[in-house]
This record gives sequence, C-alpha cells and structure tokens, in this order.
Amino acid sequence: MPNILDAYQRVAGLSKLYDAMLTNAGLLGRLALKIFWGLDSAAYEKFLAQSFAGVPCDFNGRLLEVPVGTGVLSLPRYQKLGAEIFCVDLSDKMLDAAKARARQLNLRGVQFIRGDAASLPFADEFFDLVLSINGFHVFPDKAAAWSDTRRVLRNGGIFCGCMYVKGVNRRTDFFVEKFCDRQGFFSPPHETLTTLQARLNELYRRVEVTHVESFAGFVCRK
Ligand SMILES: C[S@@+](CC[C@H](N)C(=O)[O-])C[C@H]1O[C@@H](n2cnc3c(N)ncnc32)[C@H](O)[C@@H]1O
Repeated sequence: MPNILDAYQRVAGLSKLYDAMLTNAGLLGRLALKIFWGLDSAAYEKFLAQSFAGVPCDFNGRLLEVPVGTGVLSLPRYQKLGAEIFCVDLSDKMLDAAKARARQLNLRGVQFIRGDAASLPFADEFFDLVLSINGFHVFPDKAAAWSDTRRVLRNGGIFCGCMYVKGVNRRTDFFVEKFCDRQGFFSPPHETLTTLQARLNELYRRVEVTHVESFAGFVCRK
C-alpha cells in the first residue's frame, strides 16, 4: 500500500484540482463531490457549516489545526479571528501550498509547522481548541492521533472538526475502499457514526456528532 506522505506530496502538485473539489468549485469539483461523496451544493454548505461548527466566531485563544492540507477551507476563516493559530501537516508540499495561500490572504498570527498528528510538537494542554478537518480518516496511527490531539488540548478546551465515516453511503464506501484506501489517501479501518460517537464519548464530554452524507462533524469538550 502506498504511504500517506507520498500520496499527499503528489496531491500538492494537483492542488488546484484538489481545492476545486474541496470548495465545490468548477464543473469537475462539483461533479466529484456529487458522484463520489453524494454532496450537492446545498449539502456541501451543510458539510462546511458542520465542519467549523465548533469554532466560535469570536474565538481569540490558541488554536491547533491538524492537518491543514492546503488550507483552502480554513485559512479564509482565520482572517476574522483574533486567535493565535498553529497549522500542522505531515507533508511539506501541502504546507507550502497553505503558506502561499496565507501570504495571498495577508494572514497574520498563523504559524505553519511540519509535524505528525500522532506525535505533536507541543506541550500538554497548550491549546484552547483543536480542529481536525478531514484528518482522522487519513492518519495511519489513529490511536496515537486521538491520544495526542487530546494531550495538547487544555481541560475544558474544544475538540472539533469532521471526518469520513463508513456505512452511510454505499457508493462513497466503494469509492473510498477501491480508490482512496488503495492509493494511500486514506487509512483504514474507518469509523462508523456509532463507533465515532463511542470513541469520542470515551475521550471527551458534551459530545455532539452530526453528519452530512458520509462526513461526520463533531464538537466536544475535554
Ligand atoms: C484530506 S487532506 C485534509 C487537509 C485539510 N484539512 C483539508 O480539508 O483540505 C489530509 C492531509 O493530512 C495530512 N496528513 C496525513 N497524515 C498525517 C499525519 N500523520 N499528521 C499530520 N498530517 C497528516 C496530509 O499531508 C494531507 O495534507
């Protein structure tokens, strides 16, 4: 099986196409979202809203985003926050794309750090909020990533984001198994809505799990 880092180093070279799919832009991006993920434009807006539901509009604490990828979904939102933001990704090429976007947006107060979600380069309880958009279906060492994202969050802090869950849409599950997993973009085994809820209940309190098609959104407190 190809490794995750190689897979995303390659994605960075196709970042325009990748960004188009993530932002529901252009014919190809919209078709890919509809066919593979079952998301039409209305569902896509709900997916976006649930992905960022845990980040207060006036958040001004210390925020970790892992993985940031190209930052296409998150960085524009950071313009409105007065927060201290740390964006982490394993792939230096994805990070380069995110840094270029941050420069274009003239973003201040955002640091980009190459790192592994399974072994984060931060002290215990360093963050007030940990955001993970489309990360946990990708991380190979999921147990370590669940544990280390929790370790760096302070007590009372918010853990939120979104991820793929299997068992909701059969076409999406087929696409994930035959393409995303095999090409090394995702790492099985994948959570279902039920196992995700149970896992978060073990680690956090006030757990809320929602979903739009095969994307689960989560917001909880440590
Ligand atoms: C599907 S992308 C999601 C990125 C971004 N949040 C988004 O939605 O555009 C997955 C990202 O996870 C990164 N990644 C994979 N394994 C990682 C790990 N162990 N630690 C940190 N980042 C990782 C990849 O380099 C890639 O940029």
